[in-house]
Amino acid sequence: MAQIIDGKAISQAIKDEVKAAVEKLNKDGIEIALAVIQVGDDPASAVYVNNKKKACAYVGIRSLAYELPEKTSEEELLALVQKLNEDPSCNGILVQLPLPSHIREDVIINAIAPSKDVDGFHPANVGSMLIGQPGFLSCTPAGIIQLLKRSNISIAGKECVVIGRSNIVGKPMAALLLRENGTVTVCHSKTQNLKEVCKRADILVVAIGKPKMITADYVKEGAVVIDVGIHRMDNKKLCGDVDYDSVFPICSAITPVPGGVGPMTIAMLMYNCVLSGKENSAI
Ligand code: GUN
Repeated sequence: MAQIIDGKAISQAIKDEVKAAVEKLNKDGIEIALAVIQVGDDPASAVYVNNKKKACAYVGIRSLAYELPEKTSEEELLALVQKLNEDPSCNGILVQLPLPSHIREDVIINAIAPSKDVDGFHPANVGSMLIGQPGFLSCTPAGIIQLLKRSNISIAGKECVVIGRSNIVGKPMAALLLRENGTVTVCHSKTQNLKEVCKRADILVVAIGKPKMITADYVKEGAVVIDVGIHRMDNKKLCGDVDYDSVFPICSAITPVPGGVGPMTIAMLMYNCVLSGKENSAI
């Protein structure tokens, strides 16, 4: 029987650890605050932002909410980021993506002070991660590493295949698996023989954005399967990029959707906020 990797329970454990760390910092007179900026009213983003605020409340981090209208200009958003960069009472700055098309995401990400970039998207943090120096790790891939470690699944020496090469998941995921001494392959839309490559994987991380695309014939017997996708089906139920019912019988462990990778992203965001509080307080 495959092990179901319980992201809900593991994320709860991390949030409780963060909560204890925040209480300790509070006792030392250090408060932690996260600025959460949303531009426009994309309904999916609104749900994510709301969940981030709820997690902040749970762990004892103050959330500073900025809900800006769709027509906000790039200059206005840059000015807000700059103001928060200079505000010593703000430890973390999160600009919810995607941004409206008239605002360049890279310009905004580059403007966030790396020491407050709790998403781990700034090139300085991405570079530090690649060369193994301290910095903020991108939350979803860092959460997946935690899922594996806390489920006693070793990475060192394993064939790891990542499907997807986004800046938010695929690329940092590959870097973190490599950092854990995995043997890493990254697949993408131009990969030839995708099935054959996936079948080599001891650990298969799927972040393609296509509902139920990965069926049993992509998976080696006994592989660990991590599903980053989340989609709402016509019957209103959620599903991932992996066809769970087909893959479950042949894998050794799998993340469900919902309740797998999803809750880990926010837990790691909370973890990064505490790190930021510690770092900034030391300056
Ligand atoms: N949009 C989708 N995922 C994320 C995330 O992890 N951080 C931010 N800022 N925006 C997102």
